[in-house]
Amino acid sequence: MEIRGDQRKMKQLAIVTGASSGIGKAVAKKFLELGYEAVLADRNPDRLRAAEEGFGAWKGRFTCCETDVADAGSIDALIVQVRRRKADFHVLVNCAGVFRGGLLHEAAAEDYDVQFDVNVKGTCLMMKAVLPLMLEAHGGSIVNVASVSGIRGDYNAPLYCASKGAVISLTRAAALDYMEKGIRINCVSPSATATPMFLSGTGDGVMRAFKEALPDHKIGLPEQVADAVVFLASPQAAHICGHNLPVDGGLTAWNGQPRQDKDA
Ligand SMILES: NC(=O)c1ccc[n+]([C@@H]2O[C@H](COP(=O)([O-])OP(=O)(O)OC[C@H]3O[C@@H](n4cnc5c(N)ncnc54)[C@H](O)[C@@H]3O)[C@@H](O)[C@H]2O)c1
Repeated sequence: MEIRGDQRKMKQLAIVTGASSGIGKAVAKKFLELGYEAVLADRNPDRLRAAEEGFGAWKGRFTCCETDVADAGSIDALIVQVRRRKADFHVLVNCAGVFRGGLLHEAAAEDYDVQFDVNVKGTCLMMKAVLPLMLEAHGGSIVNVASVSGIRGDYNAPLYCASKGAVISLTRAAALDYMEKGIRINCVSPSATATPMFLSGTGDGVMRAFKEALPDHKIGLPEQVADAVVFLASPQAAHICGHNLPVDGGLTAWNGQPRQDKDA
């Protein structure tokens, strides 16, 4: 991704949640490579320490914060670290997320709470906390990580699908309210991506079924999602607002009907 001259003069800061693993870690790395400073938030202290060591090449350019995005007090502490960096332009990428599968009639109320507290309330609270900085700076860019599961349904995952549908809706509605203030809000919707969330507990049979179902027959890479995030956050996407960009190997292009050339 090209960085334009006018961008180089600004101190740009990427705030990334879920930054110690998977898509969030790949997003954080891309922004650091592009010369951004970064505040990396995650609630897992061990993985956060490992990410800090892994990003040693950029020491001094980023701060790691143990943060629970579902907790407003925890986010307040994160914002103190963000303000310390005194950036001219803020990018917020909401990657923190959890997956609770299972049939609805067997789900506990706690499953609902966890699913929505992290994926929906966490995204809302982070946006609410960072938007004032963007308003002060008369600009900014937010990219939320939703999912193809928020566009159409998945078997055995109604709570997850509902939470990601909410993220897409939140993105669209908030984008309208802040576009005139120079703040663009978009989201990406990955399909199956090779991260701990997808790989842990996914057996060979399910993996084969995913590859069969995806039109490009490939499990996505976190770096491919990160490329889409960086694009949406960049000035190259200046006229894109409230958009949901699937990063899905063509999955959402397919309406689910079988091939008609099968017997040919
Ligand atoms: N991997 C996939 O197949 C896939 C597909 C579509 C969408 N997504 C979405 O992408 C995002 C990133 O997922 P991933 O695949 O990289 O998963 P991951 O499990 O590798 O990373 C998620 C990170 O979020 C952090 N996190 C969870 N709850 C948190 C909280 N309350 N506060 C702060 N951090 C918290 C975890 O500690 C972890 O580091 C999620 O929103 C997920 O729903 C993933």
